[in-house]
Amino acid sequence: MEQQVPLIDPFARPITYLRVSVTDRCDFRCTYCMAEHMQFLPKRDLLSLEELDRLSSAFIGLGVRKLRITGGEPLVRRDIMSFLRSVSRHLGDGLDELTLTTNGSQLGRFADELADIGVRRVNVSLDTLDPGKFAEITRWGRLPQVFDGIAAAKAAGLRIKINAVALKGFNEDELFSLTEWCANEGHDLTFIEVMPMGELGSEDRLDQYWPLSDLRARLSERLTLIDLAERTGGPARYVRVNETGQKIGFITPLTHNFCESCNRVRVTCTGELFMCLGQEDRADLRAPLRASDDDALLIGAICSAISRKPKGHDFDYSRQKVAGQVSRHMSHTGG
Ligand code: GTP
Ligand code: 5AD
Ligand code: SF4
Repeated sequence: MEQQVPLIDPFARPITYLRVSVTDRCDFRCTYCMAEHMQFLPKRDLLSLEELDRLSSAFIGLGVRKLRITGGEPLVRRDIMSFLRSVSRHLGDGLDELTLTTNGSQLGRFADELADIGVRRVNVSLDTLDPGKFAEITRWGRLPQVFDGIAAAKAAGLRIKINAVALKGFNEDELFSLTEWCANEGHDLTFIEVMPMGELGSEDRLDQYWPLSDLRARLSERLTLIDLAERTGGPARYVRVNETGQKIGFITPLTHNFCESCNRVRVTCTGELFMCLGQEDRADLRAPLRASDDDALLIGAICSAISRKPKGHDFDYSRQKVAGQVSRHMSHTGG
């Protein structure tokens, strides 16, 4: 296999963004992300933190410039800070950004250390500001703990982006309160269309689906939205709200496909490489990682996997039924 540096996929897309899921476990059970009774991977199947480091470093050597740590909930993995500290050595030397996506529950414990390591911003998943609704959607979560975590992150100087999954009949009535809260707190805000992942019945998913084209139109009834060209390297498109100055992002896998500009792949905590969030194809990186201390086999496996990265997902709700569903839960790859 001819090595390609930087990594370029068959559709001429450079792969510069790696999402590493360090655990499939989580202290919440968000209904759109996990089943209530999840069967987690046996701990013996997990890559060690040293192996995750070797893997991430190999990708950085191949041109990855942005590393996002995900889960499950990344901050529940034991000793995760030592891993983050270790990979942070690449910042400014190949790596532009080290960041994470978290449910916020553990930020109270870790925010200062994250800032010290060189993390500059975190994305926090938060779909509602109502404690009762929060308990309902996360099943196990407590909103005050997440508010405390977000406050700790802000106090530590981290920029915060709130991720809210747009859910019909659930947070429609909080569109303006969420927007206003983010404006007051100085957080960016991104809305996400719910994707058909996991075993949820398709009727349930269609019932939940709130197209961001509609959400955006409703926002525009009261606020002036100015399209921004700027990107964060992720899939969101952003607007600036004229009245408040805040930034709002839209992640629209259903209403506006963004796969054409895809720059990312995902590694799970057992070393599976998923070339697309919306497809089943994967490559095992654990075997080549463990087969030798030299990275040649690993790099070969990465390059060969990238050479079959698919064009995009097949998620589609437009015929009043769910198409393109993926059976694994979102928590498997961390979104
Ligand atoms: P930024 O660096 O702030 O742009 O973050 P990000 O959007 O790249 O990452 P985040 O973890 O905040 O992801 C937000 C949502 O976008 C999650 O629901 C992800 O599942 C979804 N998402 C991220 N990348 C992709 C992708 O390649 N395809 C699809 N369909 N969804 C994605
Ligand atoms: N559809 C869209 N977003 C989802 N997330 C989890 N499950 C889904 C889904 N089915 C989001 C979380 C978090 C991010 C990693 O993925 O809310 O912000
Ligand atoms: Fe956990 Fe995040 Fe999934 Fe919710 S969305 S269950 S917080 S991994």
